[in-house]
Amino acid sequence: MEKDIKEILFTEEEIKKRIEILGKKISEDYKGKFPLFVCILRGAFMFLADLLREVQIPLSVDFMAISSYGGNTESTGQVKILKDLDTSIKGRDVLIIEDIVDTGLTMDAVTRLLRTRKPKSLKICTLLDKEERRKIPVNISYYGFKIPNKFVVGYGLDYKEKYRNLPFIGILKEKIYM
Ligand code: PRP
Repeated sequence: MEKDIKEILFTEEEIKKRIEILGKKISEDYKGKFPLFVCILRGAFMFLADLLREVQIPLSVDFMAISSYGGNTESTGQVKILKDLDTSIKGRDVLIIEDIVDTGLTMDAVTRLLRTRKPKSLKICTLLDKEERRKIPVNISYYGFKIPNKFVVGYGLDYKEKYRNLPFIGILKEKIYM
């Protein structure tokens, strides 16, 4: 797998340090509340697992599976809900946990849907923000890193379901997906 990586963007250590800071901030902001963390599968599972361990307040977790890329590197603009939440979010402080915000189409669709269910608050926490590619504005409350417009994999992020288990985030060699 590692031979397919052109450059490491964030090492395991750098990711860990950044998540510690995010966890502290989220713990302060949600102090006295009982937030529901909504993990967007599949890419965000690793981020969620590490972030949760840095958050020092009571919370609950639920999962939603969304598909937007359909095996390609480009968003199709179509968002499909593959698995909906099991929990009611009415009156809850909801924090969406995402691995990457790219065009913003996924977060736009998800937040529009979740808002109809009347949460008390709804915020987004993404590990990676590829701002340059945005097609629709997204209000991100917490982010790990801003990244350039390169195809990244590892730490939960895949290309055709591969590379999710790399412990770092790296740029995939063009020849793999060209
Ligand atoms: C990725 C990522 C986001 C979305 C971001 O999901 O996890 O949900 O794309 O792209 P956008 O801002 O352009 O909408 P993907 O469909 O690759 O599924 P996965 O998380 O299961 O890998």
